[in-house]
Amino acid sequence: MSVITATSAVPPLHSPRSTPRPRVAMMVRSSNAVSAASILTKLHSDCATPLPLLRQVSHAMAADMRAGLAADGASDLKMILSFVDSLPTGDENGLYYALDLGGTNFRVMRVQLGGKEGRVVATEFDQVTIPHELMFATSEELFDFIASKLAKFVEKEGGKFESRRGRTREVGFTFSFAVKQTSINSGVLIKWTKGFAVSGTEGRDVVACLNEAMGRQGLNMRVSALVNDTVGALAGARYWDDNVMVAVILGTGTNASYVERVDNIPKLHAPKSAGGSTIINTEWGAFSRGLPLTEFDREMDAASINPGQQIFEKTISGMYLGEIVRRVLHRMAEDATLFGDSIPEKLQMPFSLRTPDICTMQQDSSKDLEVVGSILYDVAGVNSKLESRKIVVDVCETIAKRGGRLAGAGIVGILQKMEGDSKGAVFGKRTVVAMDGGLYEHYPEYRRHLQDAVTELLGPEISKNIIVQHSKDGSGIGAALLAATNSIYPH
Ligand code: BGC
Repeated sequence: MSVITATSAVPPLHSPRSTPRPRVAMMVRSSNAVSAASILTKLHSDCATPLPLLRQVSHAMAADMRAGLAADGASDLKMILSFVDSLPTGDENGLYYALDLGGTNFRVMRVQLGGKEGRVVATEFDQVTIPHELMFATSEELFDFIASKLAKFVEKEGGKFESRRGRTREVGFTFSFAVKQTSINSGVLIKWTKGFAVSGTEGRDVVACLNEAMGRQGLNMRVSALVNDTVGALAGARYWDDNVMVAVILGTGTNASYVERVDNIPKLHAPKSAGGSTIINTEWGAFSRGLPLTEFDREMDAASINPGQQIFEKTISGMYLGEIVRRVLHRMAEDATLFGDSIPEKLQMPFSLRTPDICTMQQDSSKDLEVVGSILYDVAGVNSKLESRKIVVDVCETIAKRGGRLAGAGIVGILQKMEGDSKGAVFGKRTVVAMDGGLYEHYPEYRRHLQDAVTELLGPEISKNIIVQHSKDGSGIGAALLAATNSIYPH
C-alpha cells in the first residue's frame, strides 16, 4: 500500500530568532511585478471545480472506462484484468504472507487466518523504507533488498503463527504499479510511477523477479497472488462487507479498482454465457480529460520523470500536492515578493514542501498562524509575516480542494458506469467504496472535499446509499486472503 506519512502532529515550533537565518539566494526579479493576490485570484479560477465541470469529469471517466474495456490501448485507462475472479469468502484458513511494494515504504506481513469462526486470528508486520538510491538502482538490486528483508521477517515466525510442516510458504504480492497481469500470479511491469526509475524491470514479469530474488536468499516461498494495492484493498474490505464494490487508494499515488461483470468486458472475448464477475484495476491515475490544470501543473509535469503521463495522479495524489503548492509559492516569492526581497534557496528545491506539510499548515487554527510560520521557516527557509501566511494557507486549500473534488468526481464516474450497465444494482442499494492511503487517511479537508463532490454529483437521495469509507490497511490482508484463495494446496 502506498503511504504518505502525513502525521497530524504539529512539528516543533522554532523561534526564528533562536535558530540561524535560512540561506537565501538573491534572484533578479522580473520587471513586470504582480501582486500575490492577483496570482491567487488566477489560481482560484484555474483550479475551480464547479458542479458542471465535475459532471464532465465523471462522464469522461465513465466513457474512458468503457473504451478501455473494449480494447487495449483504446483509452487512457488501461482497465487491467486482475484475474481475481473469486473474492474471499471467510473460509480461508492457515498462515499466509503478504508483501507490499508501492511507494517509499514496503511492508512484509504475516496473517493467520482461522476460517469463518476465527477470521483474522493474528497479524504481524514490518515496514521498511526503501533507500532512495534503490529507486534508481537495477531490478536485481531492488528485489534482492526486498527478499533479504522478507527473509529476516520469516526467521522470526512463531507464537500464534503456524506454518504447516513441509509446505511452501505462500505470499500475496501487492505490487502497486501498472502491471499487465497475465495470470493471478504473473504480470509484466508496464511502467514505474511515483518517482521509481529502476532499470531492467519494465517489460519483465515482476513475480519472476521476486521468486528469483527469494531463491537467491534460500527462501522456500512462492507468490500465489500478484495484486495491485487497490485490488488487495477491495478483497480485504469485501472480506468484512459484501456491499464493497469499489476500492480507491489515495496515497503517494492513486488508483481505483471495482467489481465488473465479465460480460461487460468486450476485450476479454468471454462467451456471452460466461456470467460471473471479476475485479478490474482501472489505473485511473492516467486519466486526463477535462481536468482544470494550471501553469504550475504543466511545469511540474514537464519536469517529471514521466512527462505527459499520470495527469490525474499528478493533480490529486499525495506525491504531488505539496510540490504544486511549492511551485505556486515560488512564483509568488519571485514575482510578488511574498517573502520579502529575496527568494529562499530551499523554496527553489523541487519537492521540498511535502503534502503532509501543507496538510499540517491547513490545520493551524492559531491567531498568528504560528505553525504555518514554523513550517515555512523549517521547510522552505522563509521568515513570514501573517499576511503571507494567510496567502499560503489559501494556496494549500485551493490545491487540496481541487484534488479532493476531482477524486470525488472520479469515484462517481466509476459508480455511474456500473449503474449504467445494471440499473438499480449500485444506486438502488447500499454500495460501499473502500478508501485507503495516507492522503485520504490523514488529510481531513481533502476528505471533506471529496465527500462533498460525491454528494453534490449524486444528489441527496442516491448519496444515502453510497458509503465512502476508510478501510485501513485492507490491502495487506487482502493480498494474504487472495494468496489463500489461490493456494496450491487444497482448501
Ligand atoms: C500506480 C497504481 C497504484 C497507485 C496507488 C499508481 O501510481 O500506477 O498501480 O495502484 O499508484 O498506489
